[in-house]
Amino acid sequence: MAGASHRQIFLSRSDVQSKNGEHALGLRPADHLPLRAATRSCGTAGGPVHAAHQRAARAGRPHRRGEGDHVLEVGYGPGGLVRVLAKGPSARICGVDPSPDMRDLAGRRHRADRRVDLRIGAADAIGFGDGVFDRVVSVNNVALWPDLGAGLKEFRRVLRPGGRVVIAWHGGSAPGRIARKLTLPEDKLAMIAAALGEHFADVTRHELTTLTVFTGMSV
Ligand SMILES: C[S@@+](CC[C@H](N)C(=O)[O-])C[C@H]1O[C@@H](n2cnc3c(N)ncnc32)[C@H](O)[C@@H]1O
Repeated sequence: MAGASHRQIFLSRSDVQSKNGEHALGLRPADHLPLRAATRSCGTAGGPVHAAHQRAARAGRPHRRGEGDHVLEVGYGPGGLVRVLAKGPSARICGVDPSPDMRDLAGRRHRADRRVDLRIGAADAIGFGDGVFDRVVSVNNVALWPDLGAGLKEFRRVLRPGGRVVIAWHGGSAPGRIARKLTLPEDKLAMIAAALGEHFADVTRHELTTLTVFTGMSV
């Protein structure tokens, strides 16, 4: 992301820290999620992160529904993935993020696009109706949730039967310098896979270049 707007996406400690200072995955932000690295990774819209967004968007593309699907991004940040999705055929591109700054930043870019609807919300408080999305996508976000199970339950609620969930986190087969600092240990990744398995069918792990991605299907 260009230096001028980098300032605008700085995360405050409260953005990444739950009330008791821990997250669902047992991460302590000060140790495992260095704020400067998280900040740089959040919204680096160019280069490898942009490419990763494109691959993450493809990972969640439905096989059977074809064009015109309704997609939700949870934790859209400055809107890198929203921008990728908006170039595709989706009929509706929605998002929730708890940060009003991120809403303003991401929303500014898509003001003229009627398909895009970015709201304030969180993984465990999405706010949209039941069964309204074909895909729910969340990139570099899951380790920030205060309650993994509550988030996944909410994802299932807003997905239609047969809809796809995509959860991606820094990692993959060739993570860059920043992604390497943020990669989750195997036991935390196993925890995500197991929690997904409680709510979704066909849970599969994929190693992209700079992202570890889990997909699943709502039944
Ligand atoms: C690293 S940014 C990810 C941005 C975007 N997904 C991307 O790939 O460019 C993390 C975002 O997660 C948001 N966030 C923090 N806690 C959250 C929660 N409980 N539910 C959803 N989003 C959350 C932050 O406000 C921030 O915008």
